[in-house]
Amino acid sequence: MAFPPGFLDELRSRVSLADLVGKRVRLVRKGREHGGLCPFHNEKTPSFYVVEDKGFFHCFGCGAHGDAIGWIMRSENLDFIEAIERLAETAGVAVPQQTPQEREKAQRQKTLLEALAAAARFYEERLWSPAGRAGREYLDRRGLDDETMRRFRLGWAGDDRNALRRALTPEFPLPLLMEAGLLHASERGGEPYDYFRERVIFPIGDRAGRVIAFGGRALGDQQPKYLNSPEHPLFEKGRVLYGLSFARADAARDVAAGGAGAIVTEGYMDVIALHRAGFTTAVAPLGTALTEAHLAELWRLAPEPVLCFDGDAAGQRAALRALDRALPLLKPGHSLRFVTLPPGEDPDSLIGHSGAPVFGESLRTAKPLAEVLWQSELAARSVDTPERRADLERRLMARAGQIADRTVHAEYRRFLRDRLFALGRAAPRRTARPAAPAMPGLRSDAPPPPSMPGRRQREVLIGMLLEHPFLVAEAYEEIATLDFPEPELDGLRRAILAADALSEGLDAEALRLHLGQNGFAVAVDAVISALADHAGFLARAGDPASVRLGWTHVTRMVRDGDRSDLAGAAEALARDLSPEAWERFLALQGREAQDGFSEDEFPGWPVSGG
Ligand code: UTP
Ligand code: MN
Repeated sequence: MAFPPGFLDELRSRVSLADLVGKRVRLVRKGREHGGLCPFHNEKTPSFYVVEDKGFFHCFGCGAHGDAIGWIMRSENLDFIEAIERLAETAGVAVPQQTPQEREKAQRQKTLLEALAAAARFYEERLWSPAGRAGREYLDRRGLDDETMRRFRLGWAGDDRNALRRALTPEFPLPLLMEAGLLHASERGGEPYDYFRERVIFPIGDRAGRVIAFGGRALGDQQPKYLNSPEHPLFEKGRVLYGLSFARADAARDVAAGGAGAIVTEGYMDVIALHRAGFTTAVAPLGTALTEAHLAELWRLAPEPVLCFDGDAAGQRAALRALDRALPLLKPGHSLRFVTLPPGEDPDSLIGHSGAPVFGESLRTAKPLAEVLWQSELAARSVDTPERRADLERRLMARAGQIADRTVHAEYRRFLRDRLFALGRAAPRRTARPAAPAMPGLRSDAPPPPSMPGRRQREVLIGMLLEHPFLVAEAYEEIATLDFPEPELDGLRRAILAADALSEGLDAEALRLHLGQNGFAVAVDAVISALADHAGFLARAGDPASVRLGWTHVTRMVRDGDRSDLAGAAEALARDLSPEAWERFLALQGREAQDGFSEDEFPGWPVSGG
């Protein structure tokens, strides 16, 4: 949009920059200037100045600089046009509309917005009237105080099918109310009726906080649990984030103070609970996956928004979907970080049980996107042969290749190569376990292994991880390079890695719950009951240092398991001079002579042994 000459100057001259800035920053007059603490970076002594007669602000600490329009853009995270509209509103100046089409469009939008604003007022009044009692009681039970309900302008739609319609007509014509999604055409050709009924109403704002839609939550089990306004010209679901207008105001300040700057959750109640707990930069998409438009919006708020996902399988899938979406769009300095909450928890419930500090801590330990990418690929494959490692490398490079920005792409390649390299060093002596028996006929006649001497050690190792999950993060790559011959133990090993890949800091209970929800309940129980006589060793809580010592001991046992394999193989050979027993003995002996030890167990044995 082009503005007539002089319009912007007039706009600037109509507002006092010191007044404007003074709404958010405590300014002290110093001669011709006003000084205060810079809102764009964290400081204890003022280096931020407003020079009223020249019409600009400047910070000697961080270099922030601009005029009234720039101030609105930065402090409220608005774009140029939006900032001008906001400033014009403050100054009581009309923004000139250029073409007749533009004028007409603006007029239509205005009436649509007016209808939506009127509806928001109507619902809000309802909530506080005697008719809204059920809604208020529900919100009460959900832990919201009156102030919060008012701040988010929550409302109530009663059971009367025509209440809103009566209230808004004839001031607003029916077709307009239908376009705004407030009324619903009757299927049998009757009169249109109210779209929302018997629901708590959450007004959904645009970036500037103007109401453009509503979410309505049923009080009980009625479906759908949430009903959102249908889309209309001002409301495209895939572009809207609930809570944005609130978050926008605090994002810059939060980033400056070292905060996340934007926290993305799944739902309305989460956003509100987070705001109440002091996390005022929380937003949520409206029941859809994150879109590119959402990501663009988030990156206007903060360089590294933090995404919070539920720890269950659906939450992890959602996290990986967000990662897929974001990967091509990464730019130098902007990325995402990921928090995975314990299974079954959302921010609302977590804050309710555990309090704000626990949630704050999980934000601080959010994982960088690159880390989640690496760990999710690593957890999905074995890396015990050169070919499998090459496959992982190929896959990782393909993922990096999805990043459009050349610099970020190059950095990802380097990062992932470094990780691969470290992985190679973590397991220098790995040899291949044959993927399939060389001679199936012979093999099926072979006697089952007399015992699996290493199995107990591997169970103990899993048991330790279950009991002391902090070990998973610490020894991640060591665990990733192990490869257990027992499919159920190996599956468990990988599931534990996968759990940690997305949610560092799970405690024992959460980890078990997580594994249970992902189909490993039986395997976990089997390990735990197999270890009944080790319970004392495993549970020895103690300090992390002694747990680590125990861990070193167990991993050494797992390696030494090989030697007892050799003893076992000798025994088996003595009992039964089969070709397999002989080969196995030779192989183990040869390897021991070569390597001293190896983590590979039972080469040549049917993989399904045990
Ligand atoms: P959930 O169904 O996980 O929310 O939907 P929840 O935490 O259990 O709901 P509360 O806490 O009782 O309110 C998460 C989000 O997905 C969207 C809403 O934004 C909701 O907050 N959603 C969910 C819909 O849009 N429609 C639905 O039918 C369900
Ligand atoms: Mn919830």
